[in-house]
Amino acid sequence: MQLVEDRTAVITGAASGIGRETAETFAEHGASVVVADVDADGGEATVDAIADAGGEATFVSADVSDPADAEAMVQTAVDEYGGLDVLFNNAAIEGPVARLDEYDDDAFERVIDVNLKGVWYGTKYGIEAMLDDDGGSIVTASSIGGEVAVPQYGGYGVAKAAVAHLMKYAAIEYVEDGIRANAVAPGIVRTEMIERSIEEHPEMEEQFLNTEPMPGLADPREIANAVLFLGSDLSSRVTGVTLPVEGGYLAQ
Ligand SMILES: NC(=O)c1ccc[n+]([C@@H]2O[C@H](COP(=O)([O-])OP(=O)(O)OC[C@H]3O[C@@H](n4cnc5c(N)ncnc54)[C@H](O)[C@@H]3O)[C@@H](O)[C@H]2O)c1
Repeated sequence: MQLVEDRTAVITGAASGIGRETAETFAEHGASVVVADVDADGGEATVDAIADAGGEATFVSADVSDPADAEAMVQTAVDEYGGLDVLFNNAAIEGPVARLDEYDDDAFERVIDVNLKGVWYGTKYGIEAMLDDDGGSIVTASSIGGEVAVPQYGGYGVAKAAVAHLMKYAAIEYVEDGIRANAVAPGIVRTEMIERSIEEHPEMEEQFLNTEPMPGLADPREIANAVLFLGSDLSSRVTGVTLPVEGGYLAQ
């Protein structure tokens, strides 16, 4: 069963990790996918993987922290595929691992630019396109760090809390326009983001492995499946929520 047949999805940060996996999952389920990322090589690799599997995708070079790029990425969906049905605000950076007093100010600004303003711009231009197109579904990647304090990830965590809250505003302001807006809050997922953290702070591997009550780390496909649920009509009555996908971490 194809859950998003003939729909168009824009997925940011789709050159890697959860974004790439979600792009492939949506394409498998019949969507045309706009792969948006600053990483052109990775983005083209995602498009090639989708094409090899018989799906449809286009790469657009976009820095989500630049409003002009965010607008252009949404316009690509309109120009190439006739509209926008699903937006997955997924691109983000992890920023420094540091307590608040040691957190570098420039690094904080970049984290806010990408992880918060980037989602704001994508959501704003995504809504504009969805209003022209009978509504749609917006999904944003938050994190367990947006739900509870995960020590030394303060900049990242406050941005993730803010974007989950932004989804509530989008959900309520556009509920009568057929637009739904939700967040997913992954725990620890085996992606390049986590590999980078382990490389820089090897002592964190043990901590990551023991974070979620479920054993091991999540597979990116487990997050992609949750995004597919929120992006498809399976969740037609769900709006304004944050769906944890964290092996029981927040239940403790
Ligand atoms: N991996 C985890 O454990 C985990 C946990 C919770 C939440 N998340 C969230 O899930 C999302 C995906 O994370 P991931 O682990 O796949 O990360 P990743 O680093 O593997 O991929 C992130 C992608 O975003 C792109 N990107 C970065 N800055 C960008 C910008 N300014 N404009 C456009 N693209 C940009 C990167 O090039 C990369 O392709 C992020 O929002 C992350 O915060 C991840």
